[in-house]
Amino acid sequence: MNIFEAIRKDHDTQRDLLKKLVNTSGETKERKQTFKTLKNELEIHANAEERHFYKPLISNDMMQEKARHGIAEHHEIDELIEKLEETDYDSSAWLKYAKDLKEKVEHHLEDEEHIFFQLAGKVFSETKKKSLAEDYTNYMDKNL
Ligand SMILES: [Fe+2]
Ligand SMILES: [Fe+2]
Repeated sequence: MNIFEAIRKDHDTQRDLLKKLVNTSGETKERKQTFKTLKNELEIHANAEERHFYKPLISNDMMQEKARHGIAEHHEIDELIEKLEETDYDSSAWLKYAKDLKEKVEHHLEDEEHIFFQLAGKVFSETKKKSLAEDYTNYMDKNL
C-alpha cells in the first residue's frame, strides 16, 4: 500500500460517517455516537496526515503553498467541529452546521485526492510512498 491508498481508505470512512451524520435527527444516541466517531476520525487523520504527508511535502518548493492550504483547511474543519460541540443536539442549527461540515470536508478530500496526490506523486519516490504509508497507518492504529 502507498500513502495515497492509505489516506484514501480513511477518506472513504469519513465520507460514510458524514452521510450518516446528516441523516440523524434530534438528541439521539445515533447522532451523538456518529458525531463522536467522526470527530475522532477527523482529528486523528489530520494529525497523521500533517506528520506523514504534509510535513515531508512542505519543504518542496512546488508543494509549499498547497501544503499550507491543506493544513489551513484542517483548522477550518476544527472550527466547524467546535461549533457543533457548542450547539444543542436537538437545535435546528445543529443539522445546518453538520451539513456545513460535510460540505467542507468533502471539498477538502477532493482537493487532496485530485490535486495534492497528483503533485505529491511526482515529489515522492516509490520507496517513500510506501514508508509514508507505514508511518501514517501506524499513527492511525496507535491513536484511533
Ligand atoms: Fe486533510
Ligand atoms: Fe485527508
